[in-house]
Amino acid sequence: MANTLFIGKVYLRFDELSSTNDYAAELLAAAVFQAGNSNSKSKPAEGTVIRADTQSAGRGQFGSRWESAAGKNLTFSVILYPDWLHIRSQFQLSMAVALALHDTVNSLQPNSVPVRIKWPNDLYIGDRKTAGILIQNSISGTAIQSAIVGIGLNVNQLEFDAALPNPTSLALAFGRDFNLEELDGLLFERLEQRYLQLKAGRYDAIQSAYEALLYRRGVESIFRETATDQVFAGIILGVTDSGQLRVLTERGERTFGVKEIITGMRNEG
Ligand code: BTN
Repeated sequence: MANTLFIGKVYLRFDELSSTNDYAAELLAAAVFQAGNSNSKSKPAEGTVIRADTQSAGRGQFGSRWESAAGKNLTFSVILYPDWLHIRSQFQLSMAVALALHDTVNSLQPNSVPVRIKWPNDLYIGDRKTAGILIQNSISGTAIQSAIVGIGLNVNQLEFDAALPNPTSLALAFGRDFNLEELDGLLFERLEQRYLQLKAGRYDAIQSAYEALLYRRGVESIFRETATDQVFAGIILGVTDSGQLRVLTERGERTFGVKEIITGMRNEG
């Protein structure tokens, strides 16, 4: 059981769903619909977690699929209501969630393999991806009305589809299995800590912690601009307030949005 105030207090467990993010969106949509009715159904409590042992249509970033072996990993979504967060600061939530994942995984590691955040919000152990985050915000005016925070963390899976570029899991990286029921509690605690830090307005602390943990920050990497296919060398400096990546290139400092650049390849040249 997680030692939290609200995250995971309502915990909906399923053997199988199409996608936990989609299920969370359905819960939110049903509450909005019902609000207009006399027998209105209240919206899900903040911190409600929807977890599935397997997803038949798990969703990744940019319309990709999230593949995860049944019962081996953590795949869940958390419903949050950060209506105090201005839309121009929405990347802060993304950073807070990535930091919570980092805090959790880093606290488990037996060696000193670096655990880093690959911009914008993948979790890497060494040079391999062990977790991904998919956040779906619902906007009202200039505020975020609700956020569905979807997390896929590879835990005990030992074999991955050969088509995936560089996957890993905690078991592969750290050499042992993990109890999923303990691990999710730990993750909910870290998530709540970072969320409350955000709610307290500690934006600078979140951004500097995030930047200090950025994968390949401060070392030369190779990048590819998606629009032109142009490849160039540069050094990751950090992020702008809106979450664009700041890269020092031979043309000076440039900033890129998530769809504009493929990042962080090692410079083998
Ligand atoms: C990524 O592409 O890196 C993001 C992956 C996010 C996967 C998680 S698994 C739980 C939640 N439900 C989904 O359908 N996707 C997210």
